[in-house]
Amino acid sequence: MNVLILGSGGREHTLAQKISESTKCNNLYVAPGNAGTLHCAKNLQLDILNFQEVADCIKTHDIDMMVVGPEAPLVEGIKDYFDSLTEFSDLKIIGPSKRGAELEGSKERAKEFMKAHKVPTAAYQSFDQASLEEGKTFLKTMTPPYVLKADGLAGGKGVLILSDIEEAQQELEHMLTKNKFGKASEKVVIEEFLDGIELSVFVLTDGKNYLTLPNAKDYKRIGEGDTGLNTGGMGAISPVPFADDEFMRKVEERIVKPSIEGLQKEQIDFTGFLFIGLMKVDNDPYVVEYNVRMGDPETEVVIPRIKSDFLDVLDKTSQGKINEAELIIDSRSAATVMLVSGGYPEAYEKGKTITGLDETQGVFVCHAGTKTENDQVFTNGGRVIAVTAFGNTFQEALEIAYQKADKINFEKKYFRKDLGKDLI
Ligand code: AMP
Ligand code: GLY
Repeated sequence: MNVLILGSGGREHTLAQKISESTKCNNLYVAPGNAGTLHCAKNLQLDILNFQEVADCIKTHDIDMMVVGPEAPLVEGIKDYFDSLTEFSDLKIIGPSKRGAELEGSKERAKEFMKAHKVPTAAYQSFDQASLEEGKTFLKTMTPPYVLKADGLAGGKGVLILSDIEEAQQELEHMLTKNKFGKASEKVVIEEFLDGIELSVFVLTDGKNYLTLPNAKDYKRIGEGDTGLNTGGMGAISPVPFADDEFMRKVEERIVKPSIEGLQKEQIDFTGFLFIGLMKVDNDPYVVEYNVRMGDPETEVVIPRIKSDFLDVLDKTSQGKINEAELIIDSRSAATVMLVSGGYPEAYEKGKTITGLDETQGVFVCHAGTKTENDQVFTNGGRVIAVTAFGNTFQEALEIAYQKADKINFEKKYFRKDLGKDLI
């Protein structure tokens, strides 16, 4: 098969590496890709939000399957675009329809879906500019901390958690009337605070049946001890030690099954990844959010643990036959450490030379934000490189990942040295 992966981060590099190992893979392309994807695929320069450009590329390269990495093209309806064109009726697509992608594209829609299908989640109400005063009154009925969520896509920055009622009311006003998060905060979901520990569960579904992939925990804050600003993710481990069999059974029965059944009941075309962000409160799971793609950096620990031919799994999924696919999981732990540019997630510099990449035998060096020129590799983003290692325990995996992370250098390199410490 000829496969095209859309995206340019660590998630896409990891998917490309795994798919390139498949005996079914003929030609593999990543658009636009990065300096890492060049080692296992061909990079194609294109604007993945310009569907006409993507369509031309699919024709030129005789693509059989397209795997959509990030959420933006899905929320913009890339699946529906190709479904509407008869010349692409044979194209296999991993990624849900626009209606499916609303589960990530609108927090209000996601909450309504959870309520309709009895999926446990925090109590909530949503507000718009016209109901600002009701929103402020509603806040007074809640106990702090107050959780305010911009309805639309806000690049992971649209959630505010505040302890002071006046500040919460003022931020609500800024979100609704002063475009704090642009169009994304034209509506705001106010929800009950869930006091627990977070983890991520990943499901691959053909819309009828599903496979549960390994779970993971990511580290979102920039600073050690989970302090400072939110980032795209500073590292991850899989499996999650506190998600034991009993807890995962609850996740499956209370959350995964009703979610997939909900998609079916609402006749939503959903072929792809459902990423369920969970909070474990006492011993029970609650959904914090749905995403309609794999997580990053969770992909860097989840996908390497899959030992089955992953392209075969995706192929069966795209044909509505996921029940015929088999998932073999490596029982070892995987951990990834993200190396970022100094200053990230605020302003940072790009174009720094990366050295030491050839001193990393035995680990997977996943490129997140890199580019190559004249055989040299340069930083090209806030998150630069994720180093993934295996071990018999997550501590062992982390120790190896940290050893190799020390070998890779670029000016103002930063990484968190406390990953996993919260779990011991
Ligand atoms: P979201 O974009 O909905 O995943 O929210 C971003 C982050 O805010 C989550 O990963 C949680 O750490 C936190 N968060 C969101 N909703 C809640 C909630 N109801 N209670 C506690 N923390 C939350
Ligand atoms: N690591 C969180 C995300 O991909 O949304």
